Amino acid sequence: MTFDVSYLDLGYLLSATVFIFGLKNLSHPRTGPWGNQLGAIGMLLAVLTTLGIMQFSGEGVVGWGLVGGGLALGTAIGLVIAYRVQMTKMPEMVALLNGLGGAASALVALSEVMGRSAHHDMPQGFSLWVTWIAIGLSLLVGWTTLTGSLVAMGKLAEGITIGGKWIAFPTWGPPWTNYVKALLSIASVVLIVVATLDPTNMTWIWALSIVSCLLGIIVVLPIGGADMPVVVSLLNSLSGIAAAFTGFILNNSVLIVAGSLVGASGLILTFIMCDAMNRKLFDVIFKSFGGGGKQKVTRTKVGSDPDEVAMLLDGAQRVIIVPGYGMAVSQAQHAVREFADLLREKYQTEVLYAIHPVAGRMPGHMNVLLAEAGVPYEAMIEMDEVNPMFAQCDLALVLGANDTCNPGARSGEGPLAGMPIIDCDLAPVVVVVKRSLSVGYAGVDNDLFYLDKTMMLFGDGKDMMSALNQAIKGA
Ligand code: TAP
Repeated sequence: MTFDVSYLDLGYLLSATVFIFGLKNLSHPRTGPWGNQLGAIGMLLAVLTTLGIMQFSGEGVVGWGLVGGGLALGTAIGLVIAYRVQMTKMPEMVALLNGLGGAASALVALSEVMGRSAHHDMPQGFSLWVTWIAIGLSLLVGWTTLTGSLVAMGKLAEGITIGGKWIAFPTWGPPWTNYVKALLSIASVVLIVVATLDPTNMTWIWALSIVSCLLGIIVVLPIGGADMPVVVSLLNSLSGIAAAFTGFILNNSVLIVAGSLVGASGLILTFIMCDAMNRKLFDVIFKSFGGGGKQKVTRTKVGSDPDEVAMLLDGAQRVIIVPGYGMAVSQAQHAVREFADLLREKYQTEVLYAIHPVAGRMPGHMNVLLAEAGVPYEAMIEMDEVNPMFAQCDLALVLGANDTCNPGARSGEGPLAGMPIIDCDLAPVVVVVKRSLSVGYAGVDNDLFYLDKTMMLFGDGKDMMSALNQAIKGA
């Protein structure tokens, strides 16, 4: 009796179903970790199914040593990176992983062309067009995602170190960059067509790979300031689209399904980010509001001390904390939670957390950190819901947030223009914890710091919150 390999396709169906449940679970912070594990289980199922099909279909015996070695090496590298990465470097790691996803798809496409050329195994007629266009698109999107993500990674870190020297990423603005983008886009389409017409000539494939790499760089380089969240989620979506194209090349259904899921969910996230920034995707990519250097801070402000703030908090009924990137850098989330507990115990204060959709450096950055410190999800209130509450609170405590509460975004021009912000300047008293008056990620000076009702607590977020907690205990 022979074994019918098509039964193994059920493994793909199962794995695609697990992916969908994984995504569903990722939509809530409480179920997120389980969603993540489901994604990993789905991927393992897909890998095992593919190996099973190759082994039993007579396509050729799988090189188990190579596959096992690859799995072990990949798992080891992934584990080491995941354990060693600092929490503040997570956004850069996410950008890198997006890029590697794109590169993996492009490499598979490349190996398919090289393998078919070497074995003189060219598809014919319509099938050639379908396969070669899928290969071309996979190379284009895959390499663009890789180089774009590497630039995004550097931009998130605000520069890179080469030979011990710190080099800030240049932000080249339009219009010339738009001409180059247009030129490279046209060149890539032409190269895909030419490569399909002349499929045995590898020159077109290499040329397409180079053009795609340049395109990724020139698309991401001009985008700066506050618009990076849109770019990172767009690159995430592109990594999925590249995988889906590769699925067509290999005729692998689970790759098409998984790639499409990543592509679609990444695109939804991109539009959510655009909404949060009040931008159109076209404008982010072609108008590059974020470009330009950082503003110089010329104004001054005298700092306050924790005892003064502790006195103001005496008897407060409602305090709203506005966390930002500085909370992540200083890892102040546990001290913040202690602050909230103290106020609740001492004065029965209601403590809420105002969450801006792009606070920090990755979607959900603040939620993850606060949840890690045991802050209840119900206390984390989204921007639209929390903004009307500021007028009725006693005090707003801004912890390491800057761009996301810069009133300058409400008017005028510049990288933040039009971005909805946390309206903490409407609170009767504002306390800002940060190390200096320096600008935020978008490089714009912040009028909030200079308001009469604003008290600045200059210092590291965690140290200042701990000092404030001591002051409250002693008050
Ligand atoms: P930012 O505007 O980035 O400002 C963070 C502030 O934290 C800085 O002004 C810095 O001031 C302060 N800070 C840094 N280290 C600190 C420390 N150890 N202790 C206390 N304060 C510290 O923060 P935000 O309001 O969260 O805005 C996020 C920005 O990043 C937005 O422009 C957003 O578009 C962009 N972005 C977001 C994402 C996502 S998806 N969330 C992705 C990429 C980019 P000092 O130096 O004076 O301390």
